[in-house]
Amino acid sequence: MNPKQLVGEAAAAYVKDNMIVGLGTGSTAYFAIMKIGEMVKSGMKIQGVPTSKATEKLALELNISLLPISDVKKIDITIDGADEFDGNKNLIKGGGAALLREKIIASVTDFYIIIADAAKKSDVLGSFALPVEVTPFAKEITLMQLTALGCIAQFREKDGGLVITDNQNLIVDCKFDKIPNPAEMNMKINQIPGVVENGLFTGMADLIISEDGKGGLIKLD
Ligand code: 5RP
Repeated sequence: MNPKQLVGEAAAAYVKDNMIVGLGTGSTAYFAIMKIGEMVKSGMKIQGVPTSKATEKLALELNISLLPISDVKKIDITIDGADEFDGNKNLIKGGGAALLREKIIASVTDFYIIIADAAKKSDVLGSFALPVEVTPFAKEITLMQLTALGCIAQFREKDGGLVITDNQNLIVDCKFDKIPNPAEMNMKINQIPGVVENGLFTGMADLIISEDGKGGLIKLD
């Protein structure tokens, strides 16, 4: 089985009847959502909370009931992917530009499961350029202030234009050599006025489900 499917389906097994379930974004979360869709088709009742417009569309296609974000107070379980993780369950997220909604939804989640194939594991975060969501206003000032933190910062582009997030903001990808203290860097970045949120998730993941490259699961809790 493809590693993303393996970890995605393993995470879906934690979803039980009547739960409110945060639905992640990306190619790994896709497999968890597909499995949840099958479970719903077989009669399980859940309410989903999507972390992006793309996930909302997928969930609706699978007939997963969605809870409007204005009605969400607490989420029982969220399953999401990551771009990089370390042994302390610190994460870099936002490769799919959904980090703001993902972090808000993670922040009200009781049990936050991250699913990631073996290639995403690092001893120290920093291999993946850290995504930062910024306001379009004064974007050059924000870029300068991010660069001053010691990274090579550039606006994410696609099809010849700047990537616009679901929240009508921009993404800056910040390539650090290493991020030895993710919690401190998270705070420093979020102190920049033009930063909306960044992709460092520290102290949030309860369980990381990964794999050993040979078809076996690895759980980090
Ligand atoms: C989107 C994310 C994704 O979870 C992350 O990019 C991992 O995606 P994939 O499973 O496709 O590698 O943070 O903003």
